[in-house]
Amino acid sequence: MKEISITTRFSVFDLLSDLPSEIQDLMEQAVIVRKNAYAPYSKFKVGTAILLDNGQIVLGSNQENAAFPSGLCAERVAIFQAGAIYPNAKILKMAITAASDNNKTSAPIPPCGSCRQSIAEYEIKQNTPIEIYFMGEIGAIYKSASLKNLLPFMFDKNFL
Ligand code: THU
Repeated sequence: MKEISITTRFSVFDLLSDLPSEIQDLMEQAVIVRKNAYAPYSKFKVGTAILLDNGQIVLGSNQENAAFPSGLCAERVAIFQAGAIYPNAKILKMAITAASDNNKTSAPIPPCGSCRQSIAEYEIKQNTPIEIYFMGEIGAIYKSASLKNLLPFMFDKNFL
């Protein structure tokens, strides 16, 4: 028997103003689109802004449904939109922010497992890392240098 370990690493920025200005702008767009979330059931609003290598920014917010599983997270709304409109552009960076109507979310909110799996598909397709920045409503911003760093030991097309 042997053990293996996989290490993940994050950069932590205490303040929005500590981020490079390009990421500050991206996060500000995520905050704005977060307000468009349709979240009458969870009251948990998520916004995502994606920067592409063609300079375009694609936005998404979570969209819920009375049939709960029919709703979709902000990250997938945004990344599927990017894939649908700019299929040949590379995704450079994603900014994610979440806010609850019930309390002030200060913990950095990472993308859920399903969103990680979806983002992974695009990172593998384009063969370059996607930087992911995530925060709550207030508080620190975490940066993952790639999706793979957020989803080690992932399932991908190479197993098919
Ligand atoms: N949500 C997202 O939009 N992204 C995530 O990564 C986690 C959860 C949404 C789904 C649902 O509308 C609400 O947040 C509560 O789970």
